[in-house]
Amino acid sequence: MTSARSHTEWWKSAVIYHVYPRSFQDTTGSGVGDLNGITRRLEYLSKTLGIDAVWISPFYPSPMADFGYDVADYTDVDPLFGTLEDFDRLLDEAHRLGLKVIVDWVPNHSSDQHPWFLESRASRTNTRRDWYMWADPKPDGSPPNNWLSPFGGPAWEFDEPTGQYYLHSFLREQPDLNWRNPEVEAAMFDTLRFWLDRGVDGFRIDVAHYIMKDPNLTDILPAPPPTHEADFKPLGGYDAWEHVNDKGHPDVHAVFRRLRHVLDEYDGDRFAVGEIHIFDWHEWATYYGNGDELHMPFNFSLVWAEWNATAIRRRIEALEAVIPEDGWPNYVLGNHDEQRLATRYGPQNAPAAAVLLLTLRGQPTIYYGDEIARRETPVPPELQIDPWGLRVPGMGRDGCRTPMPWTPGPGHGFTLPDVEPWLPFGGDADERNVETQLTDTASVVNTYRRLLHIRRGRRSLLSGSIQFIDDLPADVLGFVRADGQERTVVFINFADETRPVRALPGSAMLLSTENGRGHVGTNGLVLSPHEAVVIDAGPVQ
Ligand code: GLC
Repeated sequence: MTSARSHTEWWKSAVIYHVYPRSFQDTTGSGVGDLNGITRRLEYLSKTLGIDAVWISPFYPSPMADFGYDVADYTDVDPLFGTLEDFDRLLDEAHRLGLKVIVDWVPNHSSDQHPWFLESRASRTNTRRDWYMWADPKPDGSPPNNWLSPFGGPAWEFDEPTGQYYLHSFLREQPDLNWRNPEVEAAMFDTLRFWLDRGVDGFRIDVAHYIMKDPNLTDILPAPPPTHEADFKPLGGYDAWEHVNDKGHPDVHAVFRRLRHVLDEYDGDRFAVGEIHIFDWHEWATYYGNGDELHMPFNFSLVWAEWNATAIRRRIEALEAVIPEDGWPNYVLGNHDEQRLATRYGPQNAPAAAVLLLTLRGQPTIYYGDEIARRETPVPPELQIDPWGLRVPGMGRDGCRTPMPWTPGPGHGFTLPDVEPWLPFGGDADERNVETQLTDTASVVNTYRRLLHIRRGRRSLLSGSIQFIDDLPADVLGFVRADGQERTVVFINFADETRPVRALPGSAMLLSTENGRGHVGTNGLVLSPHEAVVIDAGPVQ
């Protein structure tokens, strides 16, 4: 399918681990995680698991209307999470351990409490008025156009004192910055330099494609009925409209080319990945530019894939077909906006999902807690706090953001035993926690550890080509990764029954549902239900 090449940039072979800072490790007894907590757990990530890079969701000063994705100061740390000195220590310690650090950057909108917006809102003549997207009401007083927020309702908020509406693609507490104003771009690029100067290795760019909209603010039109299976999270009424004018305007690419120049001012292959939810594969791939824009758009296509061999293969092939010659794929199975993978795919499939994520061609991102197959935590209505879920029933994201259980017992090693965490642990944390799983060689966390170890040592997995194996039972996905003389074969059984496969001779390095090393003979092997197997298939013949 694709040829093996050598890839020297660190982010191509790196496995990224996504930390939601509120829920990783509390060191102050506040019930909310903090930066010092992340620092304390870096050895776990680096040494115990074998991760290469950590991406940290926003920790900047914020009123927390959207739990940090409403930034009130792009160049500081919220006291809830610590201080800039704590961040510097985190970075030093990560680098000492050989871990890269990626921070979240939220360019589409700030908090309505950001000093820029307070000024912009102060009067129509304020020098920062044009830093945000203001527009006059229609003659009848209604919003300037029909744009909507996925978080419910119109994307416009009327500002009584100045008689105009401002655009908020998300919450009204998240006004959209006006990226057509060069001063905004310059100020925001300076915030990148602030973190680059401190030594961060890259950025995850929040809703990257939203920053450029149709300059004429043209209405959106009703969407034609879907002709394909839903590849992405269904957003209810929002999906009834074609979102072509309210985000993803082609002018966005010039911004990313200039952004890339900023990154390239620095040594060390500073990296940028964009959160880009776009249905059309070809349009999605335009975010690679000519290798001169973002390094990659995140690929969420497996998150909403049905757990079956046909659906998964279809998405991998669709991705591989559009990756530019010098582009690099990536895969995501979960994040702080999506239902936990162990719940979506079923806990019995969590080990096989780990094999899939860590053996496909490209950069994998692991969401914290997925390595212990953490499930969606049931959060009772009175404890639900995600603004999306509170506004649009069924869209709540609290269940995938609950604190990491490190140990059995009260506090679960996340916080003090007598402290109520900001979200509940859920009923299974006494069994499903890091410490308990580490002692069980057959646990999911130990599957991740073995896989990460195997991956690090195999060029074919780090940089090799991928070729699907045909003539397999319908429930089995099989592919060969090859680089030079080395071949790795992967089989995944999606069925809840055994499935025989014709196998290439070699040794099974990892059986996801069993302990130790199995052997694959010339007559093939029989996969257990939900089993995935990684085979050292020897040199190319
Ligand atoms: C992104 C973030 C999500 C946030 C939204 C608005 O989708 O991942 O958590 O609510 O942007 O910033």
